[in-house]
Amino acid sequence: MAKRNLQARGPVDGGTRSHSGLRIDGARLLGRLDELSKIGADPAGGITRLGLSDQENVAMAYLRDLCAEAGLKTETDPAGNLLVHRPRTRRDAAPVLLVGSHVDTVVQGGWLDGAYGVIAALEVLQVLHEHDVDLPVEVVAVAFANEEGALIQTPFWGSRALCGSLEDGLAAEDRTGRPVSEYLVQAGGSPEHLADAAWTPGSIAAYLELHIEQGPTLERLGLPIGVVDGIVGRTILDIDVVGEAQHAGTTPMPDRRDAMVAAAGIVLAAERVVTEHAVCATATTGYLEAHPNVTNTITGNVRMSVEVRDTDPANLVRGEAAVREECSRVAAASGCDVDVRASMRSQAVSTAPELRDAIRGAADALGLPHLTMPSGAGHDAQIVALVAPIGMIFVPSKRGISHAPGEDTAPDDLVHGANVLLHSVLGAQAPVAAWL
Ligand code: GLV
Ligand code: MN
Ligand code: MN
Repeated sequence: MAKRNLQARGPVDGGTRSHSGLRIDGARLLGRLDELSKIGADPAGGITRLGLSDQENVAMAYLRDLCAEAGLKTETDPAGNLLVHRPRTRRDAAPVLLVGSHVDTVVQGGWLDGAYGVIAALEVLQVLHEHDVDLPVEVVAVAFANEEGALIQTPFWGSRALCGSLEDGLAAEDRTGRPVSEYLVQAGGSPEHLADAAWTPGSIAAYLELHIEQGPTLERLGLPIGVVDGIVGRTILDIDVVGEAQHAGTTPMPDRRDAMVAAAGIVLAAERVVTEHAVCATATTGYLEAHPNVTNTITGNVRMSVEVRDTDPANLVRGEAAVREECSRVAAASGCDVDVRASMRSQAVSTAPELRDAIRGAADALGLPHLTMPSGAGHDAQIVALVAPIGMIFVPSKRGISHAPGEDTAPDDLVHGANVLLHSVLGAQAPVAAWL
């Protein structure tokens, strides 16, 4: 990508001095978040707006309508990502400062995980548009498709596609075997042109993501802003346990190959990998499906996923190895076959010091105390980090709850975070322009 004449496009300070009084429209931000939370509202509680599902498509359509009303230009890329830019720019004319998050949720997830970062990014873009702020590095907002991977088992689908790291994307499917291509067409994407979703190397100058913390730290310390220094890495292990379905009353206990009992052994052993042996930061069995799932039949097979996380890549490798070892041990003890396959690996990454400084500068200028902290949750930012410098801003989560219906953040904190994002975008202009 050709280097640009930065001076020709506006002041390199990006207007941080001249635009220090700019603020996002708090009522507009909160109103839009509230509207978005109605899309995929689950009668059983929380929000079920799975990536590439009809609900995510409706949410993307809602965002497109907001943008049209605001005079912003939108484009859906072949992977189903929504890209938004100001009318005076082409989004692919020069390296851009990308800002965004995702709008999909887990099953019965919360209203802010991802949605907050997208609505805030649109708000920032709208404010820049309304005030005709001239920027050395233009801002493009993005709503990444399918970050969670709750329906199509490929977390970070959209960011991987955009960053050119979606390998074998069309092999993805839902748990019933329906291929991603069918979902993609419904989402306005294009399976045939999926590879074209990848941006040219160098075309992302930097990436900023605003997100709820999803943990208890900021609230416990009474701090409104987190400056993320690193994001945890994660490996998902899909495990198939195959035993033998048999009569629950007539099969003697020593003769059984009970996949449920074997799976239970794996669940507990995976937990001990962390709680007793401190091999990695977390290990979680979040998904488990038993067959035939009948009260009076011994379980024939179980499909389950164990995921491990750590900020240190070596610990992540050790965590995976430890879980695999436990699976072999359980297989030998139970007589069941246990097949383990890593279905997703995301790397632990660091944020760029210059972008951390821009975020701290923005928070300081707004009188908001902050904490530098790691992220235990995964984010699209960690995929973008493999091709561009990233920065992340956190706001407090009430009682640290996330991926659950109780997820919430105080309105003032939501507005503060969006203002920090706005002023980080402005404050990051000089360091980001210097990288081009
Ligand atoms: C992302 O939502 C994660 O699981 O950390
Ligand atoms: Mn999430
Ligand atoms: Mn998220």
